[in-house]
Amino acid sequence: MIQGRKQLPTRRWFGKTMLSLGAASVLPGWVQSQTNPKPLLPPKMRVGGPNSLRAHAAARGRLFGVAVNPAILDVETLAAGHMTDRYTLLVATQASIVVAENAMKWAALRPTSGAYDFSQADRLMQFAAVAHQLVRGHNLCWHQGLPPWFKETATKENARALLTEHIKTVAGRYRGQIHSWDVVNEAIEPADQRPDGLRKSPWLDLVGPDYIELAFRTASEADPQAKLTYNEFGIELDTPVQREKRSQLLLLLRRLKARGVPVHAVGVQSHLQAESPQPGAGLQGFIREAAKMDLEVYITEMDVNTRNLAVGQLEQDAAVAKVYTDYLNLVLAEPNVPVVLTWGITDALSWLNDPDRSEFKRQDGSPHRPLPFDDNLKPTPAFQALRAALDAALLTRPSTEPLAVPARVVPPPTHPRTAPANVPAPAPVIDYQPFSVKGSPTPSGSKPLTPK
Ligand code: XIL
Repeated sequence: MIQGRKQLPTRRWFGKTMLSLGAASVLPGWVQSQTNPKPLLPPKMRVGGPNSLRAHAAARGRLFGVAVNPAILDVETLAAGHMTDRYTLLVATQASIVVAENAMKWAALRPTSGAYDFSQADRLMQFAAVAHQLVRGHNLCWHQGLPPWFKETATKENARALLTEHIKTVAGRYRGQIHSWDVVNEAIEPADQRPDGLRKSPWLDLVGPDYIELAFRTASEADPQAKLTYNEFGIELDTPVQREKRSQLLLLLRRLKARGVPVHAVGVQSHLQAESPQPGAGLQGFIREAAKMDLEVYITEMDVNTRNLAVGQLEQDAAVAKVYTDYLNLVLAEPNVPVVLTWGITDALSWLNDPDRSEFKRQDGSPHRPLPFDDNLKPTPAFQALRAALDAALLTRPSTEPLAVPARVVPPPTHPRTAPANVPAPAPVIDYQPFSVKGSPTPSGSKPLTPK
């Protein structure tokens, strides 16, 4: 189903996939009941407008967002006010903040050493503007996601300039338009056994340990308004390994703060597993330590991996939903956690289902179901859990200027609404209800989007 994902999936490809998946829903009920377990959710769950994750997050002063591939977002049709594909509508209605899964990484922006390609990153910015969303930038400095030419070209002599020039160009291009930049990604690795806890990476080798400070200072000059974020994985659990990583990270943050380095937030990636152990007091303590340093904490890449859970779909869904509930109840009780993003919106495009990643494969070969919407863009039990956890979140003052939530995501059409080719099913143009970010969504008579 997700074959050929090494090439960028196109919107046409995605539409076709959705079309074939959609065909399952026209099978007679008795055939479906043979193949599908009894669903955990009511069949007609409303998820649009005031029922969306975006609206529920806003009602608690928070942002909800997803990672996307801009290539499959139908920006043009959405902007023109025509009916667009269900995936595009879903991202527009559910997310108040978006992040590029890959399109703002070095490898995507710098296919050759001599030139930048901003086409996909610009596309994301355009989409977000049409859908009235904020954007996270991901990322400016990482040991992975580097283009092939980097290895032959980068030296100790030119690495500082390469890093600073990249940050000035990229963060400078979107100056004033980015909610938060992941300035440095995944720089801690206690297993590398350095006293400072830093990962042995090309940037450490070529620039030296002050590459982190250099990256943050350069980003701050390039985009003084963005919240500059340090993003990390494997810091959620209370295992000895993750506890050590968390404490090394706190030490790094304290060193940076003590030197006056402009760091404003920590991203906790939150790629979680369905089985025990689960996050607990250690992460809670970490978030509170961050608050003492005046740092916000963003849940930047949440999903739930069921690789080690040899159960059927129903149990898998229940286990994933429980992780969403428990985890979000834990972190959203903290006032300095204003943002939650999942790493994708639909299971169909989750990196956990990438056929080339054998390390994620489930034993029975069945796909992961780690995200709020399934392969058919129907809400999953994880959606329900996520939305309930947002409702239960501590009410906070929005940390970002209230989002101008549009009265309608799609501007009034000036032409007859016609569906573009390959759209699986007609979907209504979304009426997006205006509501104050601080208050509750105000329901009105119009129909919410209910993906079919
Ligand atoms: C992953 C993407 O999801 C994949 O499509 C890509 O092949 C590799 O990167 N931590 C991060 C993200 O910070 O950038 C990674 O994204 C997932 C782990």
